[in-house]
Order: sequence, then C-alpha cells, then structure tokens
Amino acid sequence: MSGTIKAANSDLDLSGKRCVVVGGTQGIGLAIARRLSAAGGNVVIVGRKAPSDVPPTWSFVHADLSLVTGALGLVNDLTAVGPIDYLFQTQGGFMATEPVMTTEGHEGRFMVQVASKFALTRGLADARALHGPTVIVCAPGGHSKTFDVDDIQLEKLFDKGKASIVAVAERDSVVLDAFVQEFNTRYPKHPVYHVWPGLVDTNCLSNSTLGQPLRFFMQLFNPIGMFLMGSKPDVFAEMPVWLATKGGEAGAPKVINNKLKPMKPTPATNDPAMRQRIWDDVFKLYK
Ligand SMILES: NC(=O)c1ccc[n+]([C@@H]2O[C@H](COP(=O)([O-])OP(=O)(O)OC[C@H]3O[C@@H](n4cnc5c(N)ncnc54)[C@H](OP(=O)(O)O)[C@@H]3O)[C@@H](O)[C@H]2O)c1
Repeated sequence: MSGTIKAANSDLDLSGKRCVVVGGTQGIGLAIARRLSAAGGNVVIVGRKAPSDVPPTWSFVHADLSLVTGALGLVNDLTAVGPIDYLFQTQGGFMATEPVMTTEGHEGRFMVQVASKFALTRGLADARALHGPTVIVCAPGGHSKTFDVDDIQLEKLFDKGKASIVAVAERDSVVLDAFVQEFNTRYPKHPVYHVWPGLVDTNCLSNSTLGQPLRFFMQLFNPIGMFLMGSKPDVFAEMPVWLATKGGEAGAPKVINNKLKPMKPTPATNDPAMRQRIWDDVFKLYK
C-alpha cells in the first residue's frame, strides 16, 4: 500500500501552495512537512520549539496549544500569514494517565490532543484563512457505545485514579469523531479527514507526561512493537499528504486508516444529540 501511495504522489507539485503543519516540529508532522517541502510546498510548521535544523525555506510559528490563548493566538497568527491551502494537525502525543492542569484550569493533554483541533479548524475556516482540506492524524474509530459528556476532560476518572490509557484513548476518539462528523456537515466546503496512523516510529514519549511504571514499560516494549509492526514517519507521511492533495478527487473516506480503509466513527457519536453537546461544550472552552 505504501508503495502505491508513494507512486500516486510521484507527480505532486505544490509550488505556490501554503501548507501548515501543526505539530510539525517532530514525528509524523515533521515527516509530513518534509514531504510537502519536497513537492515544492510553502511550509509553515507550528509547535512550542523549532527543530534545530529547520530548512531556511520553512517558517516556524510558536504556539502552546494546551492554552486557550495559545490556540486563539495561533488562529490570528496563521490568518495574518495568508491563505492556507492544506492544513495538517498532528499536535499531541502519547496518552497520559495523570492530569496536567494548565494555568487556565484545563487538562493540558486534552487541550492539545483534542480541543485545539476544534479551535484551529473552525477558527481558520471562520476567518476565511482556510482554503482547502484539513487532515488530522490522531485516533479515530474507538469502541465506546456510551460517553459521559459531563466528564469530557476526565476529571472524575482522574480523581478516582481510573483514567487508564484505554479510557483516555477512547475519550480522544469519541470527541474527535464527533467533531469531524459535525464539522463536515456544518462546513461542507472545508473537508476534514481523520486518519489512524497505526504504529509510527516517532519519539512521542519525549512529549508525554506518562508516569511510571507505564513509561518504563513503553520504553522497553515500544521498540519491539515498532520493529515488528511500525512504519517510518517518512513512509507514513505519504498517506496524509495524498489525502489532502488527491483524496477529494479520489473520493477517499473522511475517517480512514493507514491502509486507506474506511473506519467507522466511535459508536457513541452516532447520536446527533451527543455530537451537538460535545461540539457546544468544547467550543465553550474557547469563548
Ligand atoms: N506515533 C504513533 O504510532 C501514533 C499512533 C497513534 C496515534 N498517534 C497520534 O498522532 C499524533 C502525532 O504523533 P507523533 O508520534 O508524531 O507525536 P510526537 O512525535 O510526540 O509529535 C507531537 C507534536 O505535537 C506538538 N505538541 C505537543 N504538545 C504541544 C503543545 N502544548 N503545543 C503545541 N504543539 C504541541 C509537538 O511539538 P512541540 O514539542 O514543539 O510543541 C510535536 O511537534 C499524536 O496526536 C499521536 O497521539 C501517533
């Protein structure tokens, strides 16, 4: 499959196209930025710290997306940069089972991994800065049939010490699946794709607040899993780049895995009232 996508991308010419990669300072996002740049795209990467070797043709925009002010400020900064032809969102990282509260009183990982994607996509669309598709690389297609919408930041679970990696991952899937469905209905001119990357060999633990002993376990077994099942970021990056640039023409599904197979959004999001409530509650954070 990766060979097919690579071949499909071989004629890609992104000259004159502005490509923004939020979370483009390392891992999957950085690999996407490299691929866009190789195709001639005008690349802007966003994160908290620029890599030491950013090519001179790229731009770096600083943002801390755990903060409401960081996400709203980024919408303004990117709007000022000019129209965005392709928006990629890979900000986030590995699950954490302990909350990290921000100075604004929110759970920081949730704000980066989940909520900031609402704020940026809609903010840039409303500001008319977004002119093309958005590709979110994260965690679609969970299994939850129900969802406690009154505990979207998992405060109750964290308090009881019951926020397992699975519970956090399922919450991420529910909330992002709800967002992608709602956004695609409400903003049909701005398609949003949500991609499951499978295992991609990045340094995502470096960004994670995962505590012990899970961190030790991950450090021990992650390399084995990557060796057996993982893909390299530059290989995987072909897929989201193809999706953004050619997926619309090819009728690609909006929720999709790394093998280009459609995925079903998490069952809890089949309920329109649930999706509406999630949409309203997350956007309230950005008021
Ligand atoms: N790698 C995998 O196998 C895998 C599997 C499933 C899902 N995913 C998901 O795919 C996405 C990308 O994964 P990855 O492995 O590439 O992760 P990664 O290597 O940890 O990269 C995460 C990116 O997010 C940015 N970021 C983190 N916190 C931020 C903050 N507070 N404000 C702004 N930017 C922030 C980081 O930039 P700075 O540090 O410069 O801020 C970095 O560029 C993540 O959402 C991850 O959960 C990955």
